[in-house]
Amino acid sequence: MKKDEAKNRIDLLKKEIEKHNNNYYVLNKPSISDFEYDLLINDLAQLEKIFPEFADVNSPTQKVGSDKTKGFEQFKHEYPMLSLGNTYSKEDLEAFFSRTEKTLGFFPEYICELKYDGASISLIYEKGKLTKALTRGDGETGDNVIHNVKTIKTIPHKVESVNLPEKFIMRGEVIMFREVFDRLNSEKIANNEQPFANPRNAAAGTLKTLDSSIVANRELECLLYFLLSENLPSDKHFENLNIAKSWGFNVPRYMKLCKNHSDIFEFINLWDTERHNLKFDTDGIVIKVNSLKLQEELGFTAKSPRWAISYKFQAEQASTKLLSISFQVGRTGIITPVANLQSVLLAGSTIRRATLHNDAQIKILDIRIGDNVIIEKGGEIIPKIVSVDLSKREQSAEVFKFIENCPECGTKLIREEGEAGHFCPNEDCPPQIKGKIEHFVSRKAMNIDGFGEETVDLLYKNGLIKTVADIYNLKKEQLLKLDRFANKSADNIIAGIEKSKEIPFQKVLFALGIRFVGETVAKKLAIRLKNIDALLNCLFDDLVNVDEVGEKIANSIISYFTNPKNLEIVNKLKVAGLKFAEDNNMQNYPPLLQDKSIVVTGSFDKPYDRKKLEELVDNFGGKLVKSVSKLTSFIVAGEKPGPDKIDKAAKLNIKVISRDEFLRMIEIDI
Ligand code: IVH
Repeated sequence: MKKDEAKNRIDLLKKEIEKHNNNYYVLNKPSISDFEYDLLINDLAQLEKIFPEFADVNSPTQKVGSDKTKGFEQFKHEYPMLSLGNTYSKEDLEAFFSRTEKTLGFFPEYICELKYDGASISLIYEKGKLTKALTRGDGETGDNVIHNVKTIKTIPHKVESVNLPEKFIMRGEVIMFREVFDRLNSEKIANNEQPFANPRNAAAGTLKTLDSSIVANRELECLLYFLLSENLPSDKHFENLNIAKSWGFNVPRYMKLCKNHSDIFEFINLWDTERHNLKFDTDGIVIKVNSLKLQEELGFTAKSPRWAISYKFQAEQASTKLLSISFQVGRTGIITPVANLQSVLLAGSTIRRATLHNDAQIKILDIRIGDNVIIEKGGEIIPKIVSVDLSKREQSAEVFKFIENCPECGTKLIREEGEAGHFCPNEDCPPQIKGKIEHFVSRKAMNIDGFGEETVDLLYKNGLIKTVADIYNLKKEQLLKLDRFANKSADNIIAGIEKSKEIPFQKVLFALGIRFVGETVAKKLAIRLKNIDALLNCLFDDLVNVDEVGEKIANSIISYFTNPKNLEIVNKLKVAGLKFAEDNNMQNYPPLLQDKSIVVTGSFDKPYDRKKLEELVDNFGGKLVKSVSKLTSFIVAGEKPGPDKIDKAAKLNIKVISRDEFLRMIEIDI
């Protein structure tokens, strides 16, 4: 590879990996498997090795991804939270053993543990009391999610034992049992919400929820695998874990002390099959040198310890031929490429299609028609292509060129800056129209009973609905002319349509399907602006002042309402009698806390307890934040406020007020 080609590919890989880091650690919505991610990292590491002039300390090969999120107070980890080197083959594992043996001069004792698939957590105990619970963050500092962690029943808030170190840290993994995950996702699907991809994402996402009562309902678990302290009870990892267990910590029993290779491989082979019988997901085995002295001798690389490694179980894969690529158009015009494959058996089902996500993904994998590709079944139902077998590539295989025009309507596609995919800008494109109608009638939006995908398709094909506004002109006689409808089903749908006129403004706003305006944003806009006319006349600067609305959303709203076709739809819906203003009987709150960032700390008696105060901040247009910064407007402090928050407020000269002062501020008589 030429130097400039290598530079381009390095830049491309870095960008791609950063994006996946964000998807995984911040959004908790990974779009590729760990295996695919590791392939990208390996690719980049290889290139950096061959072209050292392009290596840099900030490369994703040198640091761990960050999970830091807004809304939590951040603290530095006393001991950095590192990652682990991954291996996928027994040969790689042998190479790891040889390396350690070479450094130490002998084969050390190892501990094999399961690799729990969740979100890492560092529990800090001082004088036996749990004082902080930090996420990994970027490895150096993490978010304090103690309120959420305290809802996990197996984590002790207080530990008592004679030999307890003054200060110690328990590290482990917050997980969700598969049974709880299935229940949660069924609920989500029933509510028309996006389900979580897998239990790991559900656990990580829940841990970062700002409302601890939601967390408590989700029944998280925590499995612990590491004790850290300046005064450890033993100089062996295994003993320390067993002692921690005797202190009341949830240290799983799936561990083994191994004195030779075969002990280790036995453990691996056992769990490669036994793992399916566990209540939780494990994606591999962690192998650690038992002696802490030897651990110290082996030390660390920039990213991971040299005394431990993980062996990952491979997801089920198959190899097949890519026959062609076709394209699907989504509700917002997003084009998704789909791979048509020579049929192949994978994990018990015949696979003919796989998702390719977008053009960026095709480029990253450099997929060409006719290639032999490796497909994998991840957490999702649709398999994906994870790599190309280059050794089998035909000489004649040409670089794949993404389509330039919409496959449905022929309009020239657009690729917006910063977006990985293409989209069709033509709102009259049939799949977009149908997709918008499907969204409009869905449960979380107008919730019209009996109006599913098939009905939308039928009514659209028969020319009865072209926009969502046409739904309100549908007549029973028109429906009866279609084969699918009988007297009763036609009555039901008409009744459902009529009933939807009672749906509150915030849901109507969500139903319109404005790009990037999800349920929460729609709710914030409705509460703040009260009616559609205020929203229509809102300028960019006012929009970005609404909680949760950033530049991207503000631009999308403006662009929606400057389109005459959309204005016409809104007008027709108004005439039809849909609610385009917040109900008067819904309490009308003046925006007395507009532009204020407010921290609420400590506990308060009912009726104005902490939850209620937080609700009031929101209702009166304020922004609730969890940590104190120079942007904080003031702090409302109750009994036993967070000492760190009060100290920080004093340092930054931020006002601390009582609950009564706060209530007076929003004109509530007490
Ligand atoms: S020990 C210095 N043991 O895997 C890192 N980690 O990929 C020592 N994990 O960040 C980590 N199960 O969140 C260790 N039995 C186990 C584990 C485990 C899951 C996670 C942990 C770590 C990540 C690294």
